[in-house]
Amino acid sequence: MSAFSAALFSRLQAAEFYSALHQQAVELLPRGEGRTWLDVGCGPGLVARCAAAHGYRARGVDTDPAMVRRATANARRMGAATQFAVQDLAGAAAGEKADVVSAASLLAVLDDRHNALAMLLACVNPGGTLLIVEPSARMTLRAAQTLRARRPLGRGAWFLYLWAATREPARAVDLQEVNIAGLKKWRHELLDGLVHAWLLRPEAGFRPHGASR
Ligand SMILES: C[S@@+](CC[C@H](N)C(=O)[O-])C[C@H]1O[C@@H](n2cnc3c(N)ncnc32)[C@H](O)[C@@H]1O
Repeated sequence: MSAFSAALFSRLQAAEFYSALHQQAVELLPRGEGRTWLDVGCGPGLVARCAAAHGYRARGVDTDPAMVRRATANARRMGAATQFAVQDLAGAAAGEKADVVSAASLLAVLDDRHNALAMLLACVNPGGTLLIVEPSARMTLRAAQTLRARRPLGRGAWFLYLWAATREPARAVDLQEVNIAGLKKWRHELLDGLVHAWLLRPEAGFRPHGASR
C-alpha cells in the first residue's frame, strides 16, 4: 500500500461509528491489568490504542511500513502507550506470544484464511483469547443506507458507505462455518449485525496447526 492508503485508513479509523465499534470489540475482553495484547494487521493503530486504554500492554504489527509510521504518529499524538513494528502474520506467529491477539478486517484480505487463522492462534498465550472483527455478509450498501437513516452515526458516517461499497458479501468471513476441535468461540454483533466480533479461546492442549476446516 502507500502513504495515501495509510492516510485514508487513518481517517476511516477516526470515523465515530468505526472507532466506537472497535472499542466495543476490545471491551468484550476483561480489563488488561497489564496483560499483553498483539494486534495483527494493525493499520493506523486504532485497536492497539483501544487495548492500551483498556489496560493492556499493547503492540501492533503490519506488513506495510506506511501503516506502521502512521500508527506510531497517531499514538504519539494521542499519548497512547503502544508499540508498532513492521512484521507480517507469519513473523508474528514465530515471535513473542500475547495474552490477547486481535485481527480486524485482516482475514478478509488474505487468500488462505484457514492458515491465517492457525497462525493467529499460534500467537496466543495458553489461556489467552483471539479476537476477530470482520464485516458480516449483511454489510451491503443498502444495509448501510438503512442503518444511517435509522440512527445518526456521527462524524465520518459516509465512510460506512465506502466500507460497504468496497466489500464483497460473498467473501465475508464467517467463523461459524469453521469447525476447529478444542476451540471455544463466541460471536457478538456490532453495528446492528453489519460487523461480527468473534472471541476464540483455545482449550488446554490445543494445537493451532491441527485445526480442521
Ligand atoms: C483492511 S486493513 C485493516 C486495518 C485495521 N486492522 C482496521 O481494521 O482498520 C488490513 C491491514 O492488514 C495489513 N496486512 C495485510 N496482510 C498482512 C499480513 N500478512 N500480515 C500483517 N499485516 C497484513 C495491511 O497492510 C492492512 O494495514
